[in-house]
Amino acid sequence: MITNRKLEHVEICLYEDVEGYIPTLLDDVILIHQAMPCLSFNEINTSVKFLNKEISAPLMVTGMTGGNEALGKINATIAEVIEELRLAMGVGSQRIAIERADARESFKIVRKKAPTSPIIANIGAPQLAKGYGLKELKEAVSMIEADAIAVHLNPAQELFQPEGEPEYPGDILIKLKDISKELGVPIIIKETGTGISMETAIKFKEIGIRYFDVSGQGGTSWIAVEMVRDKRKNNWKKESAELFAGWGIPTAASIIETRFAVPDAFIIGSGGIRNGLQIAKAIALGADIAGMASPVLKKAVEGKESLVSFFNKVIFELKAAMMLTGAKNVEELKRVPVVIWKELREWMESRGISLSTYEKLRKRE
Ligand code: FNR
Repeated sequence: MITNRKLEHVEICLYEDVEGYIPTLLDDVILIHQAMPCLSFNEINTSVKFLNKEISAPLMVTGMTGGNEALGKINATIAEVIEELRLAMGVGSQRIAIERADARESFKIVRKKAPTSPIIANIGAPQLAKGYGLKELKEAVSMIEADAIAVHLNPAQELFQPEGEPEYPGDILIKLKDISKELGVPIIIKETGTGISMETAIKFKEIGIRYFDVSGQGGTSWIAVEMVRDKRKNNWKKESAELFAGWGIPTAASIIETRFAVPDAFIIGSGGIRNGLQIAKAIALGADIAGMASPVLKKAVEGKESLVSFFNKVIFELKAAMMLTGAKNVEELKRVPVVIWKELREWMESRGISLSTYEKLRKRE
């Protein structure tokens, strides 16, 4: 049952139009061109530290899949490539593997193929409401010797999913607070395409969490994915899902809100990141690294070479943006001058975030 749904999710993300319902607002961030960058291209260093490991570029593949042999193959391809290029990756929800031993190999393959890379386990917050606790989270972590675990928030997806269970009681926060003390690896609070607001970020900051994967709107819309499934099943929710398909916080706004709420957070800027210029913008805006899901899936099913070429192109684009802003490394990229205008500026204004206050926060001063 869950495996069929996971396969259908992958198929929909590959072949249906479920992206870009609203803009990420990263277009409203302008990196200022420097005609005299005082740099040679070869000097540019994109490496960063993530979860106590060095990665070659500020990029991770955010959690997507696992559960059966076909999905395990996708995980294996991504894992081989990120190990070769020294990037990071998350796996999809491990609920199925906690419940069924035969599903475990499709997740374990990731650590086998990527023995030295940062690997992130994954579990849904609703599972915590339904009885999961320290034991299950430890199991998810040890299954893949994970460096951290992402606890994903998906209330919008659960609402519009034909068989969804939208259960998000506040008890989840109390449980997570206790679990985080015993788990031994960091918890990353991860959205799934509708973004993290400052109010949400503060709730998790108050229980001691400081890793966030914002996964804002503008990329894969999980409400739209479920809308496609509602339509296929002729479920009564189909029109409501269409109405809400663009619901959420645009990625650029979510990065700003999270950095504003938790100045010392480690932020993964994700949701609609499709190229290296957007990675540069996300970092200059306040993210520490960027994350991508759907574009990686699309290349992974074409094969390893296709995915390697894609990442190399993306890293070239990131380096090009660094060269043209005069940033020799990622720390300098965090401090390059930017113009924030149009809708993103209006968003900040209406949320009470002044440009001058935010300027210091984004530069991490
Ligand atoms: C996802 N995503 C996801 N996230 C999560 O925390 N657990 C999961 O099991 C999944 N499953 C999943 C399957 C597939 C096929 C895709 C494409 C994505 C969400 C993903 O990590 C990401 O947050 C969103 O897709 C937004 O990023 P993109 O796709 O716009 O880059």
